Amino acid sequence: MVNELFQDIIRKRRSVRKFEAGHSVSKKALKRIIDCGRWAPSGANVQCWDFLVIDEPEMRDAVTDVFQRQAQRLVDHAKGFPAVKKTYLANTVAIVIVIGDPRWKVCFPQPTSQGWGKEYLENNEAIFLCSLGAAIQNIQLGVTAEGLTSAWLSGGGEDITNKELSELLGYPEWMRAYGTIPIGYPAASQNRRYRRPLEQTIHWNGYQPTKYRRHEQVDFYESIVRPFAMYRDEESMETWVDRAKKLGKWDSAFTSAETNPGGKLQPRADFSAPRVVGKATKRRNQD
Ligand SMILES: Cc1cc2nc3c(=O)[nH]c(=O)nc-3n(C[C@H](O)[C@H](O)[C@H](O)COP(=O)(O)O)c2cc1C
Repeated sequence: MVNELFQDIIRKRRSVRKFEAGHSVSKKALKRIIDCGRWAPSGANVQCWDFLVIDEPEMRDAVTDVFQRQAQRLVDHAKGFPAVKKTYLANTVAIVIVIGDPRWKVCFPQPTSQGWGKEYLENNEAIFLCSLGAAIQNIQLGVTAEGLTSAWLSGGGEDITNKELSELLGYPEWMRAYGTIPIGYPAASQNRRYRRPLEQTIHWNGYQPTKYRRHEQVDFYESIVRPFAMYRDEESMETWVDRAKKLGKWDSAFTSAETNPGGKLQPRADFSAPRVVGKATKRRNQD
């Protein structure tokens, strides 16, 4: 029973970007939610986070303004990404901002031998970010367990937005808002979301090359499928009415256990920027 409840909360946690206006939440419930974040694991147990809880309407509106500007910058300078206007933040009952304190990275393994910097320092960053991710995830799950819903906004961590948030909320600018979690009551059903088939993601006792996702599939997702996979209220692409049109020859790579039937792997390629011409690319190239 406990397991069923747990699975239910995991599945019900959803990114919702439309909330009903006119609700409120108790400080007690917010404290229970934050306590979930407090119990997250962190490298060397440094707990490199602080949780800013915004539940006063005036401050919420000021934070909403910051994110409106952030959303507009995405539209202007990150064309092609299916960004959503952030006006919905005005209907939240609270907004939690998880800030990360980078000083704590010094507690992770530090290189002591010449030439070992790359080995350890890059991993310090990974440990730091994963710790913050665990806290953000725990908070989202805590929100779900309270019968509320939320989203996970990473845009607060962008330089300009983080500066504006730090000035508004008073935290040192060198700390960073790695996760912003608007909390509220959903305005529309958001019960499901696309997930890869379970069998496609599991590799028993070693990596199975037939489950490797080819470079071209990544390109196709970035350029064509992404907005639908992000926002549609469907778990499987098999139920998409426009499945054939949207997936084309990539249908089985997105819906079956195997993505790469030939089992041939590819050499590393440059994915530092999008690579193909599709709808997203055309939007990106618009002036
Ligand atoms: C690290 C990270 C950053 C994200 N950033 C944003 C964001 O800035 N804005 C947003 O609307 N959703 C953001 N999301 C939410 C994802 O789009 C969402 O988790 C994904 O589409 C799957 O949907 P689901 O959360 O409903 O299962 C982020 C999620 C993660 C884990």
